[in-house]
Amino acid sequence: MASSSTFDVALQAKIKHHLERFETRRSAILPILNDIHQQYGFVSPAQVQALEDEFDLPRLQVQEVISFYSRYRQQQPSRYHVQFCDNIVCRMFASQQLIAKLKAKAAGCAAGTLSVEPVPCLGVCDGAPAMLVNDERHLRVTCDNLDGIIDDYLQRASDA
Ligand code: FES
Repeated sequence: MASSSTFDVALQAKIKHHLERFETRRSAILPILNDIHQQYGFVSPAQVQALEDEFDLPRLQVQEVISFYSRYRQQQPSRYHVQFCDNIVCRMFASQQLIAKLKAKAAGCAAGTLSVEPVPCLGVCDGAPAMLVNDERHLRVTCDNLDGIIDDYLQRASDA
């Protein structure tokens, strides 16, 4: 292992722990990615390379997992990153109009403040249309309540 790691000491320990508790290294990829994603908000190509260089986790196997699960971002997200479900049930409840409205709102914000990503089913179809703002879930979003939800986050950004 390289003397200076891409990951801090605590994260290195978590990665080692996951690698030790599973029978195969491949089985540890998901929990490792979860920890990296939780700490940084994304998993960068450099971090994927570091997993191979420092922990002998094949880069292609890690990249396969990242590509399969839409929840893993590969670039630093905006301060508020909205993942809006664009699957069939949410589409029946106007998700596409809501996404378009969000994108227009994001375009009017300062760079790095708000971003929008249509994603597959979030698994809460009974609360359609649904979105995540960072990791906070919002259900039954409408054209009427969308602005208020997002403005609350933007207000927090301006208060900080
Ligand atoms: S279709 Fe949108 S949460 Fe399932």
